[in-house]
Amino acid sequence: MKLYLDTGDTGAVREAMALGVIDGVTTNPSLVASTDDSYRTVIANLADIVDGPLFVQVLADDVEGMVEEAHGYQQWADDIVVKIPATREGFEALGRLRETGVRAGTTVLFSVEQAVLAAKNDATFVAPYVGRLDDAGSDGVGTVKRIQTIYDTYGFETEVLAASIRNTTQAVALYEAGVDAVTMSPSVLDDHIPHPGTDEGVAGFEADWGDRGSPLTE
Ligand code: E4P
Repeated sequence: MKLYLDTGDTGAVREAMALGVIDGVTTNPSLVASTDDSYRTVIANLADIVDGPLFVQVLADDVEGMVEEAHGYQQWADDIVVKIPATREGFEALGRLRETGVRAGTTVLFSVEQAVLAAKNDATFVAPYVGRLDDAGSDGVGTVKRIQTIYDTYGFETEVLAASIRNTTQAVALYEAGVDAVTMSPSVLDDHIPHPGTDEGVAGFEADWGDRGSPLTE
């Protein structure tokens, strides 16, 4: 299972990389816009520290513009995967890019139908928006499961990258579903760590050890 960090913040990426658990970083125009830097600067700074793929989203909404941006992003860093919204123009651009070997996939994805069109275009990944689906009263995790089942049935190699994850409950449900990949914000990743039982257990061991000092020197 791949775990990506969903952010444009290099500081957050460094912290998460120190944990040794992330396989890459996903960005989107909102995350990049929340920094003070240009799109290219944010991506270049992330590329300097990320060990793994960097997902970068197109902003154009016409086919030619999307293809041009996708090719432009390839010049910014080595391990770029292009994110293209699930629109008619997006699917056309995706097909053209995949034919030329550019790694690209479908984002802002809300339905099984869109996921089938993406896989038929040999998408590198699809990013179903779990949290936004739940916000709209749909079943985000259920949608991911249905997409994975269909992909397994037909042997599609497109990676299912669950996105828009709001909390660890959704994350755990996706792990239990055997999802290929997840992307989450630094705060949802951090929420994987704390547990009162762990704090209590560590405090108990420290209390029992008392002031006997370092086990290396006692
Ligand atoms: C990831 O690739 C998406 O852009 C991101 O997960 C969307 O999350 P949001 O619904 O919290 O904006």
